Amino acid sequence: MTKSAFQKKIWDYYKAYGRHDLAWRKTKDPYKILVSEIMLQQTQVSRVIPKYEAFLKAFPTLNDLAKASQSEALSLWQGLGYNRRGLNLWRSAQVIQNDLGGVFPSTSEALDALPGIGPYTACAVVTFWKNKPLVFIETNIRTVYLVSFFDSIKGNVKDSEILEYVSKTVDKENPREWYYALMDYGVMLKVTQKEKNTKSAHYRKQKPFKGSQREIRSGVLKILLQKKGITFSDLEKRIPFSKEKIRLVAEALAKEGFIKKEGHTLSLIQ
Ligand code: ADE
Repeated sequence: MTKSAFQKKIWDYYKAYGRHDLAWRKTKDPYKILVSEIMLQQTQVSRVIPKYEAFLKAFPTLNDLAKASQSEALSLWQGLGYNRRGLNLWRSAQVIQNDLGGVFPSTSEALDALPGIGPYTACAVVTFWKNKPLVFIETNIRTVYLVSFFDSIKGNVKDSEILEYVSKTVDKENPREWYYALMDYGVMLKVTQKEKNTKSAHYRKQKPFKGSQREIRSGVLKILLQKKGITFSDLEKRIPFSKEKIRLVAEALAKEGFIKKEGHTLSLIQ
């Protein structure tokens, strides 16, 4: 497919069916864009909408988030899963406020250096904030390129190969909306054509939440957000997993800085 035919296909779809009124597409505040991108990496749009609103109501500015305690930030992250990302967002706010004088980093390299922020989030934030044509990929964009340019290839397509096409086809006049359009087109392919990115070398089938480490982590944090301290044996009574598994998860949570252990009691780091 030629570059111009490809661009026309994406723009035509976006003009007709794009999700033009998502709140995070209407803001130019990099903090709000960052919050949305971290939420959207892990959770579908319909579930993010109310969480994004509630989070920004509680912490309207980066300074508000930086002033909040770690546990306050985590409590607003409940229901989104992947609490590590919530914690890293709070830590990034600390770094920006305390070490960078409250000035939001304006390059993808500087953003990439913040806790837990990777190249995708860094580039997406700068592109959406400054309308800069950076080159990046996430799951929906990956789908669009696999379908449009790798149709005859069996599999094992690396992101580096896809990124060459992303770079060649990016709309330099309006990169912000171009990337919205790619994402919307990718979602459409997933929903209507059940595209699954199995041709990607980076394809991993998502494991079910039920019975996973993630479920235990969420369970432990949920209890500790409601109760100031809890002993191991009380925790084991409330969570339907083996003692060993709960202990391993608690160790990991302590190591990552979510919780602390004092004797037999666990509590959330405030
Ligand atoms: N709009 C801006 N970023 C987005 C994302 N990551 N997913 C869906 N829509 C978006």
